[in-house]
Amino acid sequence: MAAHVVVGGFFGDEGKGKIVAFLARSYRPRYAVRTGATNAGHTVVNNGRVYKLRAAPSALVEPSTTLLVARGALVHLRVFLEEASAYDLRGRFFLDPLTGIITDEHVERERSDPYLMKTIGSTGTGVGAAMVDRVLRRLRLASDYEELRGFLADTQGLLLDAIEAGEYVLVEASQGYWLSLYHGTYPYVTSRDTTAAAALSEAGLGPGHVSRITVVFKAFVTRVGGGPLPGELGREEAEKLGWVEYGTVTGRPRRAAPFNMELARTAVRANSATDVAVTKLDVLFPEARCARSWERLPREARRWLEELEEELGVPVSLVGTGEAVECTVDRSRELGLEPA
Ligand code: IMP
Ligand code: MG
Repeated sequence: MAAHVVVGGFFGDEGKGKIVAFLARSYRPRYAVRTGATNAGHTVVNNGRVYKLRAAPSALVEPSTTLLVARGALVHLRVFLEEASAYDLRGRFFLDPLTGIITDEHVERERSDPYLMKTIGSTGTGVGAAMVDRVLRRLRLASDYEELRGFLADTQGLLLDAIEAGEYVLVEASQGYWLSLYHGTYPYVTSRDTTAAAALSEAGLGPGHVSRITVVFKAFVTRVGGGPLPGELGREEAEKLGWVEYGTVTGRPRRAAPFNMELARTAVRANSATDVAVTKLDVLFPEARCARSWERLPREARRWLEELEEELGVPVSLVGTGEAVECTVDRSRELGLEPA
């Protein structure tokens, strides 16, 4: 049994895309399955090329991996087709016939709703509206669209076959624990559950299929849209620290706060994490820039990570030290967490 779930532990934008891309390049999963929807953007920098992904799994940087979109996921038709063509993915990128399709009408419905756009700060990408239609059982699915003909596959069947054969499979969750419709800071949340359990459910897998659950944290916390952010810094201070980022999908500046142990601990426990990844360590410790081994990290940074391990009760398996995929420290092997 060999599914590895990678999930966010804060408010999204923890750098899951980069971690998944690193794992894919290092361990070559048979399949990577994207869950969530096209409101979530993942940025991957590989071999000097920047990928901004809203539909495709971040594992696309590993050519031997077949890319899937989960049954329970939702994708905007045009976003999917554009990504498939921009990155030349035809033949190795598949939707399930049961994957839900977002249309411009869903986007319109959200953008004309001031509560959603102003109070909640929705990305306005139609995900919630499409979700409503799915619940009311009038959403059209991938199998209803002629243009998706060459892109359909029984994604659940492929995943189950691979896992039963002992192959390595990556399950890519999107957003973060605290944006969960059920467990997050309601009503300032997204329209779906964002836990590891939910990602498995969307993909059609069970808890017993999983061998590893990595919760990803950034070295500081960011949030876009409304809702509480404990310890939030003023814009000026955040700029000075280099903590201000801009949304992949909306381009909005992200709010920022220091690493939050309390939020992290709950995310680790609720996701039953086996290990955690910490990204952007180089922003806190510039000397860590593009370090690729634990020994190369500054002493202070190692101490900070060890403290984190102690507080969270799980090991830090991966550390991001720069945007590029290769700027990563990987301790999976020494921790006995690498795929067999
Ligand atoms: P919606 O899911 O687009 O309606 O947005 C609801 C809330 O979730 C807003 O605060 C968004 O900024 C936030 N959100 C949705 N998707 C993402 C994401 O991928 N990263 C970070 N925040 C997100
Ligand atoms: Mg993002």
